[in-house]
Amino acid sequence: MKKTVLIGVTGCVAIYKTCEIVRGLQKAGVRCKVVMTESATHFINPLMFRSLTREPVAVGLFDDKPGDPIHHISLSKEADVFLIAPCTANVIAKLANGIADDLLTTTALATEAPLVIAPAMNVNMYEHVATQQNMDTLKSRGVRFIDADSGYLACGDVGKGRLADPDVIVQATLEVLNVKRDLVGKRVLITAGPTVEPIDPVRYISNPSSGKMGFALAEAAADRGADVVVVSGPVSLSDPEGVEVVRVRTACDMLAAVGERFDASDIAIFTAAVSDYRPANPSDRKLKKGADDSALATIELVKNPDILATMGARKHAGQIVVGFAAETENVEENASKKMAAKNADMVVANLATEGLAFGADDNAASIVTAAGVQRFETMPKSELAHRILDAALEL
Ligand code: C5P
Repeated sequence: MKKTVLIGVTGCVAIYKTCEIVRGLQKAGVRCKVVMTESATHFINPLMFRSLTREPVAVGLFDDKPGDPIHHISLSKEADVFLIAPCTANVIAKLANGIADDLLTTTALATEAPLVIAPAMNVNMYEHVATQQNMDTLKSRGVRFIDADSGYLACGDVGKGRLADPDVIVQATLEVLNVKRDLVGKRVLITAGPTVEPIDPVRYISNPSSGKMGFALAEAAADRGADVVVVSGPVSLSDPEGVEVVRVRTACDMLAAVGERFDASDIAIFTAAVSDYRPANPSDRKLKKGADDSALATIELVKNPDILATMGARKHAGQIVVGFAAETENVEENASKKMAAKNADMVVANLATEGLAFGADDNAASIVTAAGVQRFETMPKSELAHRILDAALEL
């Protein structure tokens, strides 16, 4: 599940920087929802944030929201963090005094999510004892402030009061959200999906892999800051944001695409359900029932390359190689043997008979390493992806 940051936007010229804050949080895999004060809408039309977030933008306390009559409560519950950026002296004063006279301030009072405030205002307003005391009051209640910067202000004055840099605000918010950014600077290579091995132009050998586990891993690794490449067989999933997806069909194509990228990767994860065999002599024309009965009834197969084993043998120091094992029996024992045979550092094993694994959104898995076995109950693949990355980083 993606974490949600509710972004409160107040009426201040620095509001244009909030667009960058939204993008920065989204790049880190965070869902953003925006609530604006009436004054904020004089600077930027809510449509801007609606377009950036692809979520409705809330403004009025009494706006008609069909099916959601108590909007400030539902908003306050959705938030994992409530970030107010930019936050005016007026809104800081209201929050310090528990005033709730519009949707933004009412939601701020109702929410149990941590509050993060990035103030922006004229230097005299910022330094005014009233504002300073209000900020101290809020700090003493655990509200986190992202200090304003000093410099030229929109009004022409020079001093403290400029909204902090959007990157600083994004990083501080991610910290409060407890979003990990532990893969910044790492290159992650992932194989995903099935492979398709042609018999003729209209028939093939394949399996029901959906690619969901590999794509979930790609998204999780990208959210944690990695450069991610996915080499995927045919799947009906769209490219995760910020991830390079190389689409292939056969195991041989997948081996070639992986071979070009493996040496540069820090972590390589092999989730693909590669067909172990392929037709030895695929026909370049459709085989006909009747005329080609013998060719159709007996298809000679040859073994496909084992991509994981090939790369495992070529692994360099410091590189982490992770394999997957879908088994129908003795799951952990077989995973452990596979880890040794393919020179992997870790194997994620699951029972392929439980209606999980192939195609499902959830999975239950054991993570096998030389240090032992970690067992995980059924959970969304998006969450298991993070557990797998945690375990890989602990190696
Ligand atoms: O040997 P088995 O197919 O059970 O091993 C599964 C693991 O090996 C998975 O990580 C899978 O992606 C990888 N594999 C591969 N190339 C193959 C067969 C399996 O990379 N030809």
